[in-house]
Amino acid sequence: MTQYPSITASEIVERERRFASLGEFAAGVANDLRALLVPIDQHAVALHAVVSGNGAAEVQLQKILHSIELARGLLHQVLIFSHGAHAERRPLSLGKLVREALPLMRAAVAHSALLRLAVDTHAPLVQADPVAMQRVLLNLVLNASRALRQPHGVIEIGVAGMKAADGHGPPFVRLTVADNGIGMDGATVGEWRRRFSEPSDAPQGAGLGLRIVHQTVCNHGGRLQLDSEPGSGTTIRIDLPAMAEQPAVQG
Ligand SMILES: Nc1ncnc2c1ncn2[C@@H]1O[C@H](COP(=O)(O)OP(=O)(O)OP(=O)(O)O)[C@@H](O)[C@H]1O
Ligand SMILES: [Mg+2]
Repeated sequence: MTQYPSITASEIVERERRFASLGEFAAGVANDLRALLVPIDQHAVALHAVVSGNGAAEVQLQKILHSIELARGLLHQVLIFSHGAHAERRPLSLGKLVREALPLMRAAVAHSALLRLAVDTHAPLVQADPVAMQRVLLNLVLNASRALRQPHGVIEIGVAGMKAADGHGPPFVRLTVADNGIGMDGATVGEWRRRFSEPSDAPQGAGLGLRIVHQTVCNHGGRLQLDSEPGSGTTIRIDLPAMAEQPAVQG
């Protein structure tokens, strides 16, 4: 796994520009591909009637239809990021999401990294797109992993139900990803914070990495805070509004 060199504020600005134009490009391609999928899907469905009863051909065709479905889902995700299209939201337990993603995270992070979970399974549910939230989590964990110095790298992932500091605001759920890696210098932290303080519900073109994370959090009505010190590590906190009515069934 490649490790991070330190990044400067002007590099962030440059990346942002590149990411924005890449996002526009990706959205254009996704739109065209989605349109191309329509006739492919129609012909595959028509063929289904013809081959029905032919076991082997039917199995092959099912695979084609399944791949079309997967491709459509993938393209939808691209369009969500670039144009703020509406994703599938449902009551979601972030604690459960983190636990379920653990094998994936273990496989993705550096071998020597220690993954520590502090997950409150009684934290309230949030209304969120599970696929997008899993992507947020993996992006942050991968970033943390690349920032670790061997061999004492620790990544802590927390989920906790929180009350507003003044006691009056609505409750929220906090997802924290913290590492003890190389950290970022003051100018870089300042640049990220400036970007994260800008509302991002107006679609600004897709981004990668932290841009995707931030955009997803904003799309969900949440906010993101970043703390980092060179040499001592980085902590990212994501606060998402807790659902006012907590459904009985956990998702
Ligand atoms: N946990 C972290 N510790 C130290 N630096 C970080 C951390 N997370 C992000 N950074 C810095 O911020 C930069 C941007 O992160 P971001 O996730 O947006 O992009 P990336 O990880 O470089 O690429 P991508 O996520 O698209 O693979 C990183 O290149 C790195 O310099
Ligand atoms: Mg990244």
